[in-house]
Amino acid sequence: MNVSVDVPTLLRSRVLFVSGKGGVGKTSISAALGRLAAAQGRRTLVLEVDNQHPTLPVLFGRPTAYEPSEVEKNLAIANIAWAPALEDWIESIVSMRRLVRLIMKNRVVSLFLQVTPGARDLVMLWRTMELARKFDLVIVDMPASGNAVAMLTVPLTAERLFPAGPIRRCADELLAMYTRPDTRMLLVALPEEMVVNETMETYAKLGREVRGLEHPTVLLNRSSLPSFTEAERTLLRSLEAGVEPGTAAAEVLAAGRWEEALEAATGEALTRLRAVAGEVVALPALPRGEGARRIIAQLASALARAGGLRVDLRGGAS
Ligand SMILES: Nc1ncnc2c1ncn2[C@@H]1O[C@H](COP(=O)(O)OP(=O)(O)OP(=O)(O)O)[C@@H](O)[C@H]1O
Ligand SMILES: [Mg+2]
Repeated sequence: MNVSVDVPTLLRSRVLFVSGKGGVGKTSISAALGRLAAAQGRRTLVLEVDNQHPTLPVLFGRPTAYEPSEVEKNLAIANIAWAPALEDWIESIVSMRRLVRLIMKNRVVSLFLQVTPGARDLVMLWRTMELARKFDLVIVDMPASGNAVAMLTVPLTAERLFPAGPIRRCADELLAMYTRPDTRMLLVALPEEMVVNETMETYAKLGREVRGLEHPTVLLNRSSLPSFTEAERTLLRSLEAGVEPGTAAAEVLAAGRWEEALEAATGEALTRLRAVAGEVVALPALPRGEGARRIIAQLASALARAGGLRVDLRGGAS
C-alpha cells in the first residue's frame, strides 16, 4: 500500500497532473488548488490541454490563450493549443524562426506529425515542461482518466520507437520530469461505485504503464463525512412513518435521507480507495445552485482546512 501525500505537499509540486472520470470536478479542483498555491505566494499556472470547450475562462471570467495570462495575484491560466505548441517545439530544435515557418508550411511534415500516434500528446507534454521552467507550480487539468493515461505513456512509447533524434530527446526529458519528486499526479473521485471503480482502475494502470511517475494522490470530491449519530439515524427512520408527503416536513426529511445516503457512500468510497491509495483527502459536496466561481472559492477553503493551512484566499485582481 502506498501512503499518498497531503495537501501542503501537493501544493509544493512543480508539475501536478490532475485527472479523473468526466465531470468529477477536475477543473474546479485544479482551479481551487491554483488559488490556494497562489495565496501561499507560489507563482502558479493552471493549464487546460487543447480543450475545445475550455472551462477555465468561465471560472475566472477571462479568456484563455496559448500564452499564460494572469487572472489573480500569482495565478495565471492558459490553454495549450496544438499548432503553436508544435511551432515552439520545432523552434526549440532548429532555433531559426524562418526555418520553423518553412517546416510548419511543409505539408508532408505537418501530415506526418498529425498522423504519428502520440506526436500531438508529446508536444503538449513538452509545452507543459517548458512552462514549468517559468512558474513555481503548473497544474495540468488533464483529459479524463483513460485519455490522460494514454497521453502520459507517449514518452515511453517514443523512447522505444526512436533510438535517437529530437523526438527521443524530448521523450527522455519528459521521462526525467516524471521521476522528479515534485512531479505528481492527482486523481479526483466521487463517492459513487462506478467512479470509485474507474479511479481504482486508473490508479493501477498508471502504476503499470507510466514508469517513473509517483503513485497518484486520490481526492474524493462531493463527499460528506459521517456526522449522523446512531440515535439521529433512528429518529430519522421513526419520523418518516408519520410524515405527510408533499409537506415541508417531508422535504426536510428527504434532505436528511439524502445526507445519510451520501455519508454512507462516502464511507464506502473512502474504505475502498484508502485500501489502494493510502490517505485520501475528502472535499464536501456543496449546495446545488452555487455558482461555479463560489464553488472554487469554497473548495479552496476546504482544501486549506484539510491541509491545516492558514491563507488569505481573497486573491488580488491583477
Ligand atoms: N464539491 C462540489 N460540490 C458541488 N458541485 C461541484 C463540486 N465540485 C465541482 N462541482 C461542480 O460540478 C460541475 C463539474 O465540475 P468540473 O467542470 O470541475 O468537472 P470536470 O471533471 O472538469 O468535468 P469535465 O470532465 O467535463 O472536464 C461544475 O458545475 C462544478 O461547479
Ligand atoms: Mg474539466
